[in-house]
Amino acid sequence: LEASPTFALDSKANEIDIELKKQGDYVVRFGIGQPDFNTPENIKEAGKRAIDENKTKYTPAAGIGELKEAIVNKFKKDNGLEYEPANIMAGIGAKQVLDTIMRAFINPGDGVLVPKPYWVSYTQQVVLSDGVPLEVDFKDDLKIDVDNLKKVISEFNAPIKLIIINSPNNPTGAVYLKEELEEIAQICLDNGIYIIADEVYEKFIYGDISHHSIAGFSQELKDLTITVNAVSKTYAMTGWRIGYCAADKAIIKQMSKIQGQSPSNPCSIAQWAAIEAMEGDQGSVELMRNEYEKRRNYVYDRLKSIDGIECGLPEGAFYAFPKVSGLYNDRVKTSDDFSGQLLEEGRVAVVPGSAFGDDRYVRISYAASMDKIVDGMDRIEKFCKGL
Ligand SMILES: Cc1ncc(COP(=O)(O)O)c(C=O)c1O
Repeated sequence: LEASPTFALDSKANEIDIELKKQGDYVVRFGIGQPDFNTPENIKEAGKRAIDENKTKYTPAAGIGELKEAIVNKFKKDNGLEYEPANIMAGIGAKQVLDTIMRAFINPGDGVLVPKPYWVSYTQQVVLSDGVPLEVDFKDDLKIDVDNLKKVISEFNAPIKLIIINSPNNPTGAVYLKEELEEIAQICLDNGIYIIADEVYEKFIYGDISHHSIAGFSQELKDLTITVNAVSKTYAMTGWRIGYCAADKAIIKQMSKIQGQSPSNPCSIAQWAAIEAMEGDQGSVELMRNEYEKRRNYVYDRLKSIDGIECGLPEGAFYAFPKVSGLYNDRVKTSDDFSGQLLEEGRVAVVPGSAFGDDRYVRISYAASMDKIVDGMDRIEKFCKGL
């Protein structure tokens, strides 16, 4: 099992940061993927109220009824999906929900399709469940290469249980169009492959494109899809650890059994805060989205202006995924070299593309204040010019 490279990088950045702070400098942190905003006040108040009202006991393993109702309403309002509470499971962040899906589906040796570039935990969660991660190539637009997908499916000679589709995407910022999702979904239908639709960044989309939920395309696809989401990114609640999913009742029943044995319910207080997040005022989400859009535009313009870097316009999430291999030389030969030296010399933390399955790229998280972004992009430009 591999350690999470984003956490490893962040702790190295932290060490260097502590040293630099003694000299009045600091590391610009574009590594970790979490909102720089604080959890909105109304949500924090709901958490405090839950403590004062002693809502601090064990809850049903898959979440309290009130939370499941709030999630049912969310899917209906935001995604046009009709579910009942028995279709819902809440867990300790989207990460733990994803892990529970893997455990519920995978027998030793089963395949799980993981399109590259992938969020770092997908492949390792498959490995933890004794499955085989089947990497799928991507095209220049950073989206799934459908021909390669078909090839990987036809060449694997054990059952393929799942595919993970993440749109808006971490690490690329790509957002899939409806027809692109439909094409992939049809291949899954034809091959009986269940779809994990990881939609944790659905609210952060820029320009005039839209988010589409595969489960909404047809009843057949609704039956085949497990839609995963969380309050973590949408409401700047990464530390509260509430994620959830919607799926066929039989799937949720099996997942809830696993949840009941390990690890039991997600934090009771955080569940009440998550209800307020989903049912309370949504103004903070649009404020954050607007801010991310400004930052996205700025980062993209700056990256485009650096000789040797290629970068498409990220349409969602809060990441840019520039191709930096055009700058590789005798000293900097890999994305690990690039990000390592950028950290040591340029004092900017970015995640090497190797962590996501492609060594030509690095990931920049622009979930940082505009001041830091301007400073960080100046530093990146200077570093690149010196290569
Ligand atoms: C694509 C993707 N899915 C899931 C998660 C996990 O989210 P959570 O913090 O709710 O566990 C992340 C977090 O970085 C992510 O980027």
